[in-house]
Amino acid sequence: MDGRPITINPEEGKLIQLLIKLSNAKTIIEIGTLYGYSTIWMARALPNDGKIYTIDRDTNSAKIARENFSKLDKELSNKIIQINGDANVELQNLIDKKIVCDIVFIDADKISYYNYLKLSEKLLKKDGLLIADNTFLSGAVYKDYLPDRVSITAQQNVRKFNGELADESKYCGIMLNTEEGLSIAVKKF
Ligand code: DHB
Ligand code: MG
Repeated sequence: MDGRPITINPEEGKLIQLLIKLSNAKTIIEIGTLYGYSTIWMARALPNDGKIYTIDRDTNSAKIARENFSKLDKELSNKIIQINGDANVELQNLIDKKIVCDIVFIDADKISYYNYLKLSEKLLKKDGLLIADNTFLSGAVYKDYLPDRVSITAQQNVRKFNGELADESKYCGIMLNTEEGLSIAVKKF
Protein backbone atom coordinates (compact mmCIF):
# COMPACT_ATOMS: atom_id res chain seq x y z
CA MET A 1 0.00 0.00 0.00
CA ASP A 2 2.90 2.48 -0.54
CA GLY A 3 2.02 4.54 2.53
CA ARG A 4 -1.30 5.88 1.22
CA PRO A 5 -4.19 5.46 3.63
CA ILE A 6 -6.86 3.19 2.21
CA THR A 7 -9.76 4.76 4.12
CA ILE A 8 -11.09 8.27 3.85
CA ASN A 9 -9.60 10.78 6.29
CA PRO A 10 -11.62 12.69 8.92
CA GLU A 11 -11.84 15.88 6.82
CA GLU A 12 -13.29 13.86 3.94
CA GLY A 13 -15.68 12.17 6.36
CA LYS A 14 -16.82 15.55 7.65
CA LEU A 15 -17.19 16.98 4.14
CA ILE A 16 -19.35 14.03 3.09
CA GLN A 17 -21.44 14.47 6.25
CA LEU A 18 -21.95 18.13 5.32
CA LEU A 19 -23.07 17.16 1.83
CA ILE A 20 -25.53 14.62 3.27
CA LYS A 21 -26.99 17.26 5.60
CA LEU A 22 -27.07 20.04 3.02
CA SER A 23 -28.85 17.86 0.48
CA ASN A 24 -31.24 16.33 3.05
CA ALA A 25 -30.20 12.91 1.78
CA LYS A 26 -32.13 9.90 3.08
CA THR A 27 -30.85 7.09 0.88
CA ILE A 28 -27.19 6.46 0.08
CA ILE A 29 -25.50 3.69 -1.86
CA GLU A 30 -21.85 3.06 -1.02
CA ILE A 31 -19.71 1.00 -3.41
CA GLY A 32 -16.75 -0.37 -1.44
CA THR A 33 -17.43 -0.97 2.26
CA LEU A 34 -13.95 -2.10 3.30
CA TYR A 35 -14.10 -2.08 7.13
CA GLY A 36 -17.10 0.23 7.29
CA TYR A 37 -15.30 3.41 8.36
CA SER A 38 -16.81 5.66 5.69
CA THR A 39 -20.14 3.85 6.07
CA ILE A 40 -20.29 4.89 9.72
CA TRP A 41 -19.38 8.50 8.89
CA MET A 42 -22.26 8.61 6.43
CA ALA A 43 -24.75 6.72 8.61
CA ARG A 44 -24.16 9.25 11.41
CA ALA A 45 -25.23 12.12 9.15
CA LEU A 46 -28.41 10.41 7.96
CA PRO A 47 -31.76 10.97 9.67
CA ASN A 48 -33.09 8.05 11.76
CA ASP A 49 -35.24 6.79 8.90
CA GLY A 50 -32.32 7.09 6.45
CA LYS A 51 -30.67 4.09 4.82
CA ILE A 52 -27.21 3.37 3.50
CA TYR A 53 -26.70 0.33 1.28
CA THR A 54 -23.02 -0.62 1.38
CA ILE A 55 -21.60 -3.14 -1.07
CA ASP A 56 -18.33 -5.08 -1.01
CA ARG A 57 -17.40 -8.39 -2.58
CA ASP A 58 -14.48 -9.11 -0.25
CA THR A 59 -15.70 -11.58 2.37
CA ASN A 60 -12.89 -10.88 4.86
CA SER A 61 -13.34 -7.12 5.00
CA ALA A 62 -17.15 -7.56 4.96
CA LYS A 63 -16.83 -9.72 8.08
CA ILE A 64 -14.76 -7.04 9.86
CA ALA A 65 -17.26 -4.38 8.77
CA ARG A 66 -20.14 -6.50 10.10
CA GLU A 67 -18.36 -6.76 13.45
CA ASN A 68 -17.76 -3.00 13.48
CA PHE A 69 -21.43 -2.30 12.69
CA SER A 70 -22.58 -4.71 15.43
CA LYS A 71 -20.82 -2.53 18.03
CA LEU A 72 -22.82 0.57 17.09
CA ASP A 73 -25.97 1.82 18.77
CA LYS A 74 -29.04 0.13 17.26
CA GLU A 75 -30.34 3.48 16.05
CA LEU A 76 -27.21 3.84 13.92
CA SER A 77 -26.73 0.23 12.82
CA ASN A 78 -30.39 0.03 11.74
CA LYS A 79 -29.57 2.52 9.00
CA ILE A 80 -26.93 0.25 7.46
CA ILE A 81 -27.80 -2.43 4.92
CA GLN A 82 -24.68 -4.47 4.19
CA ILE A 83 -24.47 -6.35 0.91
CA ASN A 84 -21.65 -8.87 0.39
CA GLY A 85 -21.29 -9.26 -3.37
CA ASP A 86 -19.87 -7.87 -6.61
CA ALA A 87 -21.18 -4.33 -7.06
CA ASN A 88 -21.47 -4.87 -10.82
CA VAL A 89 -24.18 -7.42 -10.00
CA GLU A 90 -25.58 -5.95 -6.78
CA LEU A 91 -26.17 -2.49 -8.26
CA GLN A 92 -28.21 -4.10 -11.03
CA ASN A 93 -30.22 -5.92 -8.33
CA LEU A 94 -30.96 -2.56 -6.67
CA ILE A 95 -31.99 -1.11 -10.06
CA ASP A 96 -34.33 -4.09 -10.57
CA LYS A 97 -35.83 -3.38 -7.12
CA LYS A 98 -36.48 0.20 -8.30
CA ILE A 99 -34.32 1.71 -5.55
CA VAL A 100 -33.73 5.43 -6.04
CA CYS A 101 -31.02 7.14 -4.03
CA ASP A 102 -29.91 10.66 -3.17
CA ILE A 103 -26.17 9.97 -3.03
CA VAL A 104 -23.80 7.36 -4.46
CA PHE A 105 -20.33 7.15 -2.92
CA ILE A 106 -17.78 5.17 -4.94
CA ASP A 107 -14.59 4.00 -3.23
CA ALA A 108 -13.92 0.55 -4.64
CA ASP A 109 -11.89 -1.27 -7.31
CA LYS A 110 -10.78 1.37 -9.76
CA ILE A 111 -11.08 -0.87 -12.84
CA SER A 112 -14.87 -0.82 -12.52
CA TYR A 113 -15.30 2.94 -11.92
CA TYR A 114 -16.82 3.61 -15.34
CA ASN A 115 -19.23 0.68 -15.08
CA TYR A 116 -20.17 1.74 -11.54
CA LEU A 117 -20.92 5.21 -12.89
CA LYS A 118 -23.19 3.85 -15.61
CA LEU A 119 -25.11 1.73 -13.06
CA SER A 120 -25.18 4.57 -10.50
CA GLU A 121 -26.76 6.88 -13.06
CA LYS A 122 -29.79 4.58 -13.06
CA LEU A 123 -30.04 4.65 -9.27
CA LEU A 124 -29.42 8.32 -8.58
CA LYS A 125 -32.33 10.72 -8.62
CA LYS A 126 -32.14 13.85 -10.76
CA ASP A 127 -30.00 16.38 -8.86
CA GLY A 128 -28.56 13.53 -6.79
CA LEU A 129 -24.93 13.57 -5.73
CA LEU A 130 -22.20 11.36 -7.09
CA ILE A 131 -19.13 11.28 -4.84
CA ALA A 132 -16.03 9.27 -5.76
CA ASP A 133 -12.70 8.77 -4.03
CA ASN A 134 -9.35 8.13 -5.76
CA THR A 135 -10.22 9.88 -9.00
CA PHE A 136 -6.55 10.95 -9.40
CA LEU A 137 -5.71 7.23 -9.38
CA SER A 138 -2.34 7.88 -7.69
CA GLY A 139 -1.58 10.40 -10.42
CA ALA A 140 -2.29 7.95 -13.24
CA VAL A 141 -5.07 10.11 -14.65
CA TYR A 142 -2.65 12.91 -15.56
CA LYS A 143 0.68 11.07 -15.93
CA ASP A 144 1.88 9.33 -19.10
CA TYR A 145 3.35 6.40 -17.20
CA LEU A 146 1.60 3.99 -14.87
CA PRO A 147 2.38 4.11 -11.14
CA ASP A 148 2.93 0.76 -9.41
CA ARG A 149 -0.20 -1.32 -9.01
CA VAL A 150 -2.27 0.74 -11.45
CA SER A 151 -3.32 -1.22 -14.51
CA ILE A 152 -3.81 0.33 -17.94
CA THR A 153 -7.46 -0.75 -17.78
CA ALA A 154 -7.93 1.09 -14.49
CA GLN A 155 -6.24 4.17 -16.01
CA GLN A 156 -8.52 4.06 -19.07
CA ASN A 157 -11.66 3.53 -17.02
CA VAL A 158 -10.98 6.23 -14.42
CA ARG A 159 -10.11 8.68 -17.23
CA LYS A 160 -13.41 7.83 -18.92
CA PHE A 161 -15.18 8.22 -15.57
CA ASN A 162 -13.61 11.65 -14.99
CA GLY A 163 -14.43 12.70 -18.56
CA GLU A 164 -18.08 11.88 -17.98
CA LEU A 165 -18.23 13.89 -14.76
CA ALA A 166 -16.60 16.82 -16.54
CA ASP A 167 -19.39 16.87 -19.13
CA GLU A 168 -21.34 19.95 -18.10
CA SER A 169 -24.41 18.89 -20.02
CA LYS A 170 -24.72 15.96 -17.58
CA TYR A 171 -22.97 16.96 -14.37
CA CYS A 172 -22.01 19.95 -12.31
CA GLY A 173 -18.92 18.64 -10.63
CA ILE A 174 -15.51 19.26 -9.15
CA MET A 175 -12.40 17.17 -8.54
CA LEU A 176 -11.07 18.24 -5.16
CA ASN A 177 -7.32 18.03 -4.95
CA THR A 178 -7.11 15.80 -1.93
CA GLU A 179 -4.12 13.44 -1.94
CA GLU A 180 -6.12 10.84 -3.87
CA GLY A 181 -8.61 13.09 -5.63
CA LEU A 182 -12.22 13.33 -4.45
CA SER A 183 -14.87 14.02 -7.08
CA ILE A 184 -18.23 15.52 -6.19
CA ALA A 185 -20.89 16.01 -8.84
CA VAL A 186 -24.58 16.75 -9.13
CA LYS A 187 -26.36 14.63 -11.72
CA LYS A 188 -28.37 17.08 -13.83
CA PHE A 189 -30.54 14.54 -15.62
C1 DHB B 1 -6.20 2.26 -2.04
C2 DHB B 1 -7.56 2.27 -2.18
C3 DHB B 1 -8.28 3.39 -1.81
O1 DHB B 1 -9.63 3.45 -1.95
C4 DHB B 1 -7.64 4.50 -1.29
O2 DHB B 1 -8.37 5.59 -0.95
C5 DHB B 1 -6.26 4.50 -1.13
C6 DHB B 1 -5.54 3.38 -1.51
C7 DHB B 1 -5.43 1.07 -2.43
O3 DHB B 1 -6.04 0.11 -2.91
O4 DHB B 1 -4.22 1.07 -2.25
MG1 MG C 1 -10.41 5.34 -1.52
